Amino acid sequence: MTLTMHNEYPKRLIEVDLPIARISAHARREKSIRHGHISTLHIWWARRPLAACRAVLCASLWPDPVDLTAWAERGEEIPVGDGSVVIRPKRFLDTARERMMAWANLHLKKVSLESSSRFVAIQKGVNTLADPLDLRRALLDFIADFANWDNSTDKDYLETARALTQAAHEALGGEPETHPLVVDPFAGGGSIPLEALRVGADAFASDLNPIPVLLNKVVLEYIPKYGQRLADEVRKWGVWIKQEAEKELAEFYPKDPDGSTPIAYLWARTIKCEGPGCGAEVPLMRSLWLAKKGTRSVALRIVPKPADKRVDFEFISNVKAVDVAPGTVKRGSATCPCCGYTTPVASVRQQFRSRKGGADDARLFCVVTTRLSEQGRFYRLPRDRDIEAVGSAKSELERRKKAHKLDLSLVPNELLPPQGTLGFRVQLYGMEKWGDLFTPRQSLTLTTLARLVDQAGCKLQELEDTGLAEAVQTLLALAVSRCANQFCSLSKWNAGRELVDGVFARQALPMLWDFGELNLFGRTDGVWSGALDWILAVVGSCPHTGEGQATLASATNHPLPDDSAQYVCTDPPYYDAVPYADLSDFFFVWLKRTIPMFGKAMELSPKDEECIVDEIKGKDRAYFVATMRQAMMEARRVLSPSGVGIVVFAHKSTAGWEAQLQAMIDAGWIITGSWPIDTEMGNRLRAMESAALASSVHLVCRPRENPDGSLRETKIGDWRDVLAELPQRIHEWMPRLAEEGVVGADAIFACLGPALEVFSRYSRVEKSSGEVVTLGEYLEHVWAAVSKEALSMIFKDPDTAGLEPDARLTAMWLWTLGASSSASSDDSEEAEDEDTDEESSKPAKVSGFTLEFDAARKIAQGLGVHLEKSPSVVEVKGDKAKLLSVAERVKYLFGKDAETTVTGKTPRKKKEPAQQSLFAELQAAESAAQAEWGDVKGPKPGTTVLDRLHQAMVLFAAGRGEAMKRFLVEEGIGNDARFWKLAQSLTALYPGGSDEKRWVDGVLARKKGLGF
Ligand SMILES: C[S@@+](CC[C@H](N)C(=O)[O-])C[C@H]1O[C@@H](n2cnc3c(N)ncnc32)[C@H](O)[C@@H]1O
Ligand SMILES: [Zn+2]
Repeated sequence: MTLTMHNEYPKRLIEVDLPIARISAHARREKSIRHGHISTLHIWWARRPLAACRAVLCASLWPDPVDLTAWAERGEEIPVGDGSVVIRPKRFLDTARERMMAWANLHLKKVSLESSSRFVAIQKGVNTLADPLDLRRALLDFIADFANWDNSTDKDYLETARALTQAAHEALGGEPETHPLVVDPFAGGGSIPLEALRVGADAFASDLNPIPVLLNKVVLEYIPKYGQRLADEVRKWGVWIKQEAEKELAEFYPKDPDGSTPIAYLWARTIKCEGPGCGAEVPLMRSLWLAKKGTRSVALRIVPKPADKRVDFEFISNVKAVDVAPGTVKRGSATCPCCGYTTPVASVRQQFRSRKGGADDARLFCVVTTRLSEQGRFYRLPRDRDIEAVGSAKSELERRKKAHKLDLSLVPNELLPPQGTLGFRVQLYGMEKWGDLFTPRQSLTLTTLARLVDQAGCKLQELEDTGLAEAVQTLLALAVSRCANQFCSLSKWNAGRELVDGVFARQALPMLWDFGELNLFGRTDGVWSGALDWILAVVGSCPHTGEGQATLASATNHPLPDDSAQYVCTDPPYYDAVPYADLSDFFFVWLKRTIPMFGKAMELSPKDEECIVDEIKGKDRAYFVATMRQAMMEARRVLSPSGVGIVVFAHKSTAGWEAQLQAMIDAGWIITGSWPIDTEMGNRLRAMESAALASSVHLVCRPRENPDGSLRETKIGDWRDVLAELPQRIHEWMPRLAEEGVVGADAIFACLGPALEVFSRYSRVEKSSGEVVTLGEYLEHVWAAVSKEALSMIFKDPDTAGLEPDARLTAMWLWTLGASSSASSDDSEEAEDEDTDEESSKPAKVSGFTLEFDAARKIAQGLGVHLEKSPSVVEVKGDKAKLLSVAERVKYLFGKDAETTVTGKTPRKKKEPAQQSLFAELQAAESAAQAEWGDVKGPKPGTTVLDRLHQAMVLFAAGRGEAMKRFLVEEGIGNDARFWKLAQSLTALYPGGSDEKRWVDGVLARKKGLGF
């Protein structure tokens, strides 16, 4: 499908096509890849998958052969704009043809099944790529295959991609000795700049936060410059640090007399039971499981010792779930094993408040060991020597604190962000400083490692290359960060995998009652060497070529001069999704103690200019739009008038989207395309968003500029033309998305690109009265057009006018939810986590068919439905709107007393689990059916087709076959073709496995038998 757009410069592939389904598949698969992946260099939040970045960059850097061929007809060299850019189409067309032919002949075995038929045809000479459309397809195939992680370090792929990038650069006006420059002003963990380098561009990365700057420096500057030498030096100094650490710390992690090595110590924070006359020490444990591994499963049993005011523990092995008692803490309230009293959450908090969260005086309840001669993990109770080692570690830390003379405290005493900060819960329990998150032994270990890295840095000054010395020290420091993530009282023992998870297995800092403490010397090669291995694997897999630069800067004040780059490709913060700066301080406080130059005299990471929505900091929507607008203006300033911009955005709320688009339009961008790429969104923002979208949308844009770089102000659009074009664009785009598997909410947001293309190409759009149309007003029309288009697609019928509003709304609603419900079924681990903190930052999981109110309202409006006026199908509550389930509609469908008249039960209470209440309502429905319409007549048919269908579904569900027959046949309901058509549509829309789906199928199954 071709996007029509302003065509003053050659179109890029991404402006005409992109194999999003194939790229998405690679992006999803990348989630499970660890070894050598940049994400293992250091934690950073909301990273983009490299697969998506690589594909999007290639498709932006490489022109579309079809469009370029049209340009070729205008000559060998075509000056454009004010003549400063000269297009040389053949440079790319010839190289691309040559490269793709060579690829087919030499590398056919490296391409995927999807691509191979095309490449076989090329190899056999059946396809000579003379047709530019064939060349386009071959390039897109190549891009799709190159997105595969396995091909990202393949020499042939790399060489081909780089040759194409260089040819494209020269064809589009670049000087032969130079490379295209890709700028990312919100660089974060560095996926985009890394991929830019990989595909043969230069990269300029900046971020407000010093940690991303450090990470990007590693990838863009240190690795390309020092390559293997860097790895060798890091390895060498890593060994030195390990030896020194062993000398200082081994005594605090004693081995067992039988030679077994403790790998982890399991601790529980404790409270004193407030039950009358009890006062026992209660260890807070979310679960008593230690190992969940088939026949090798191990759990604990608590043995109450009321007389001693404490509990003991016993092991039970080879256990099943039924054998294991629940933990002692639930939603923050602690139940005493001695007296059974539950100390409420408020008191639990109160008790911890004066003890800084209670990590310091937690109870050691288990030691996990490994043995030299046997596989697996072993569990034993703590012994005196374990406890003594902890005590001496604590004294040693105290001694060092006293001896510490530097300005910067030994253990980080910088303050945690204020209570109420998004994602943070620990302040409620008295943890005030970053250092409070660590036990004394963990602090001792981390401060030792940090000092040793600093000392290594001093010794490294003897290297004649100070740049290399800096690089080595940086990588060693990143290894300390890795350790901090694991040596923390918020690191969880993972019974499924029998290891300690890092703190940031989640993107938040909730409270954790029981935690796992690693032994620095616990594995064969030790935790420290393990950390270095992960980091060095990244050095091995990153490109050792190319030129890049990383710098600390706010995107609102970019350091590069005007028009200095051909590409801006960036992934800005998503509205209110992640509090990067606050989270990053966890590592910031350690890094500044490890590398003296790091963060240069900053107390904590900079937050003032951080472009997010965070009400507690007074950053509202207006702040976000203003900052993002400024950042987008800077990006446009830096980009040359002939350049291309890519902005990635993902948010489940219409408010988030509208804010981002407003900022981009205000800043003078024309949107020329948009590609949803299905990634791990659902997962990566899980901690903050309960119903996150599956896709991130890549908005393709061009600066709305004159050739001299000034903003084009004179192109005025006519509102009527815009409104006429909008539905056409959506009509072209939706089926294309569906073809690629993009449906539901993902598709709705992915339509914003084409819709905005219609609007944003003008400096402004005016009504005949001269009134300027605001983006807000336009978007109302966009949502309406999208809803209408989706509806006609759902019903496979362009004319949906015959459908009543409640049916339209129901169908559209289910379709919208369709994509996200399937995307959120992963990760049971996290579900377990929810119990660790009574009110984790997550909103309560919303059951049923729930949408954000504003999105729902807009969808409904497009269908001519007012949500507030549809109480029989929709329930609105705060910022959520819920489509009522069929069970919830029983009362409405069968008369107001349907539930109570027969059963005598009152309708379900709010908190009752959905399953149970459904059952009750069905019983009620069945009884109601018996009582009210007995065996003689069916229910009074509802007023709309949807109501009647739902009535039939309830009759089916209640096993009232006869009544259903009478209802459909005698009442004549089944004679209405709309009834069956709606049933057909809804069976495709109700989620697989849902009751509704079963019931509607049940009704459909009777159709033939009843003679319809
Ligand atoms: C979505 S993340 C980028 C993630 C990155 N693409 C990756 O794959 O790792 C957004 C980044 O914007 C940064 N940021 C927020 N406000 C900023 C500002 N005003 N200037 C520059 N960077 C900012 C945050 O620190 C964060 O790293
Ligand atoms: Zn008690």
